[in-house]
Amino acid sequence: MIRLRTLCALVVSLALAAAPNAARAQSPRADNGLARTPPMGWNSWNHFGCNVSAQLVREVADAMAANGMRDAGYAYVTIDDCWQVGRDAAGVLIADPARFPGGIKPLADYVHGKGLKFGIYTDAGRKTCEGREGSYGHEAIDAKTFAAWGVDYVKVDWCWAEGLVARTQYAIMRDALLASGRPIVFSICEWGENQPWEWAPATGNLWRTTGDISDNWNSMLAIVNLSMQHARVARPGAWNDPDMLEVGNGGMTREEYRSHFSLWAMMSAPLIAGNDVRQLTDSTSRVARDARDILLNREVIAVDQDALGAPAFVVQSPHPDVQVWARPLADGSRAVLLFNRASVSTTIRADWRRIGIRTKTAVVRDLWLRSDIGTLDGYGTTVPAHGVVMLRVTPVADR
Ligand code: GLA
Repeated sequence: MIRLRTLCALVVSLALAAAPNAARAQSPRADNGLARTPPMGWNSWNHFGCNVSAQLVREVADAMAANGMRDAGYAYVTIDDCWQVGRDAAGVLIADPARFPGGIKPLADYVHGKGLKFGIYTDAGRKTCEGREGSYGHEAIDAKTFAAWGVDYVKVDWCWAEGLVARTQYAIMRDALLASGRPIVFSICEWGENQPWEWAPATGNLWRTTGDISDNWNSMLAIVNLSMQHARVARPGAWNDPDMLEVGNGGMTREEYRSHFSLWAMMSAPLIAGNDVRQLTDSTSRVARDARDILLNREVIAVDQDALGAPAFVVQSPHPDVQVWARPLADGSRAVLLFNRASVSTTIRADWRRIGIRTKTAVVRDLWLRSDIGTLDGYGTTVPAHGVVMLRVTPVADR
């Protein structure tokens, strides 16, 4: 009898312990099935700010289809802030008629016609950061409007949101997007101010972890320091977003941009180019040629897009400026980053055990040199100031 009662109590407490998970699994939302790998694309903000137009977006789509970006995986062409000028009598958002003659739908059609996807921007508060109409109180109609226009991706900002609760407002938008019936990637942009890593994985496909990036080394580095703390939370369909890329905008050196791009790839960050990608087609400028070389490095992109979506960690740091990052990949190899944060070059060495390789030897491939280095029992090399050496290390079975 006592035994039976104990057994009953055990069953009840096990059921209770499982309940929160069961509730989560049944909640109407979380997984819209999108962004199984980090989204890739382009966004207007970092380079063009408010200077957006249909013409620009069409030229960007043309360029991405022609310069190799689309084929390398950059899919979403997103207009950021400033496309909207108000609402009509029915409450539908109106695009600036001077800059977007004909409205958004034909533009989305054009982008789709180039084999790309179309993204747009709004704000969960009353106004956008540039003072345009926000979606607060209009979530359902805006989601329906975006779906009708053929939008595939929505970035939702957090200006003019005083007194609102981020978790609640973004859940309202999530549900509105789901109810729209169109698959739309949901990008949450509240700058990491409301601990999004605690709730955003059940709400959006990506969430900003920090304030805005600027086109300089210190800004990029500060973002890495913050964002990497949340590495464990990311998973297929739900990614930390350390903000859009500055590669090609001219404020960092080639080494620094390579570091920026490599770090984003190690972190499984969304790869959203923020430069004038029109310049990558037949460009003669050094900055544009470097940007092209960086943004189109398919072996680095493959690390970012790895199906496992496993987090990267710093596994060795003999000095605060010297780091070895490592991350397991789906094929059993490791992505490894030798990262020199200092302003003088230095030698950095990766130990196989520390990066999670259990065999004695492994094949080392340098992803920036695009060449195999050899079959080795560890690897050390000189890393330039503010630079990286990025490797794929594949274990070789011991005899
Ligand atoms: C905020 C966002 C930026 C950009 C601007 C637009 O600052 O974080 O990425 O969208 O708003 O106003």
